[in-house]
Amino acid sequence: TKKKIVVIGSSNTDMVIKSDRLPKPGETILGGNFLMNHGGKGANQAVAAARLGSEVTFISKIGYDLFGLQALEIYKSEKINTEFIFTDQKSPSGVALISVDSFGENSIIVAPGASRSLSIEDINKAEKKIKEADIILMQLEVPIETVEYAATIANQYGKKVILNPAPASTLSNSFLKNVHTILPNRIEAEMLSGIKVMDIESAHQAAKTIGEKGIENVVITLGKDGAYVKEKDTYTMIPAKEVETIDTTGAGDVFCGAFSVYLSKGYSLAESVRFANAAVIAVTRIGAQSAIPYKREVTL
Ligand code: RIB
Ligand code: NA
Repeated sequence: TKKKIVVIGSSNTDMVIKSDRLPKPGETILGGNFLMNHGGKGANQAVAAARLGSEVTFISKIGYDLFGLQALEIYKSEKINTEFIFTDQKSPSGVALISVDSFGENSIIVAPGASRSLSIEDINKAEKKIKEADIILMQLEVPIETVEYAATIANQYGKKVILNPAPASTLSNSFLKNVHTILPNRIEAEMLSGIKVMDIESAHQAAKTIGEKGIENVVITLGKDGAYVKEKDTYTMIPAKEVETIDTTGAGDVFCGAFSVYLSKGYSLAESVRFANAAVIAVTRIGAQSAIPYKREVTL
């Protein structure tokens, strides 16, 4: 039987422009084609977990508009349980403006819209799903109070909470002690530890410092270099596979979704990271959700 993953987070529509390089402040540049894709860190992670073999419930909030309704249809077609995707009548659905350069690197601004009103009451409505879940997977594009509350509830039920602390933010130790594994990228790891992650040594220091906040497991994602893993007292660098990078948008989300799928099946942290690394073939394709691989496409 499939393991159950509850993803709590954002649903966005991504407005993407590819260009040779990212614009500087005050600068106008001419880019390439415009693309509109389904995105949102929460949604991307939910779709990744579903495509990679888990039974997924997505707790989220959309606006009463076309973007939200279209997104809802997509989640249904991905066989995601949408029972707890709420609608905010007063806010637009989340939108992200994304620039992607010729190296596949991106910069993103999110207008959270309805994501901002995903509330503690909404989590309470979905409590039975948290109780039934194997893993709760969250990010920080919805209010921090909501995420902290969900972590507390999940912890009371003895569930593993996986946190992708994106966008970067400082986090309280009382929250972090409810988290089983945190998966920051370089920027987020620096925000949490005060250490600039540039090489294995600094990744080690950052993972150790984050661990000292009361969290046992830390996975720092390092893009094409792979991931630096702290599993309790064991530290390991796990290199990524070499692939041709077209667009890294959502790569971190695929990593988190894939990691959670493997962890829910009882694999170790290191094994889950290896699977997540393999799933990041998403960077060889344009877009966030559209690029997410299916189980059969991922080879270890
Ligand atoms: O992680 C990538 C995602 O970040 C995009 O899909 C965008 O919507 C933002 O949430
Ligand atoms: Na991609």
